[in-house]
Amino acid sequence: MAYEFILVEPQVAPWVALIRLNRPKEYNALNLQLMGEVRDALKELDADNQVRAIVITGNDKVFAAGADIKQMAGKTAIDMLQIDQFSTWDAIRRTKKPIIAAVSGFALGGGCELVMHCDMVVASETAQFGQPEINIGVMPGAGGTQRLTRAIGKVRAMEMVLTGKFINAEEARDAGLINQVVPAALYLDEAIKMASAVAEKSPIAVQLAKESVLKAFDTHLQEGLYFERKNFYMLFATEDQKEGMNAFVEKRKPHFKGK
Ligand code: CAA
Repeated sequence: MAYEFILVEPQVAPWVALIRLNRPKEYNALNLQLMGEVRDALKELDADNQVRAIVITGNDKVFAAGADIKQMAGKTAIDMLQIDQFSTWDAIRRTKKPIIAAVSGFALGGGCELVMHCDMVVASETAQFGQPEINIGVMPGAGGTQRLTRAIGKVRAMEMVLTGKFINAEEARDAGLINQVVPAALYLDEAIKMASAVAEKSPIAVQLAKESVLKAFDTHLQEGLYFERKNFYMLFATEDQKEGMNAFVEKRKPHFKGK
């Protein structure tokens, strides 16, 4: 598929695809078309048997500076309701394969929220995270008040959401928002390495494990435990379970086929 505001490399490494947000003059501001393209690309990659993990990145200066303020400025509440931009975000969240964000520079507003839609995050030491919507008279709308609070706790989320304060990469790592901080030259390579480490595993086990971890966001513990258990049992229907366990017993490396 041809895209205008993103670049897609289906095999940036074996089994790993890359989506690059590519609206650099506008600091990768997330207009409706760009978000639709991200949704469509993820859907396509989710269905591609040659892809087992997906990396999303921006450029060295900016991951994304948020929703496109110029596109939203004149809108009414009813326009926003009818545009229903967040259904696109819901579709992104339903991606079955793991998504790793590779962040350098600004990840603000919707940019920070897009990072939180990903499953793991590698950041350059230059990265800055923020929910500055309060500075323009609104508040986060793509999950920021909910996911940020779950990730870093109430008081830190309140400070970011109510004052618009940015946090740097080390603060984000220490708060639990991201996995790793690496030197600026390495953030994309390290994210691809992380994706490759996941891509070596059984893709069915990875998919069900991701689904189970995400279940913890929207369920009570006991219900989540039942959900986890069913997924665990289901993996015993796969060839990859036999291969993984036999390889352990035979002291060799497993070769997973995604069956
Ligand atoms: N929307 C539209 N355009 C944006 C943008 C955005 N979110 N962020 C940056 N741009 C544009 C600027 O308008 C500017 O374009 P022009 O050259 O045509 O004027 C260009 O990108 C570069 O921006 P700056 O000149 O401001 O660059 P800077 O280095 O001085 O500052 C910045 C960088 C701190 C990221 C600053 O641009 C900024 O504060 N951006 C807005 C951040 C923000 O408020 N994001 C939240 C958006 S609302 C949201 O995301 C809602 C939601 O929950 C979904």
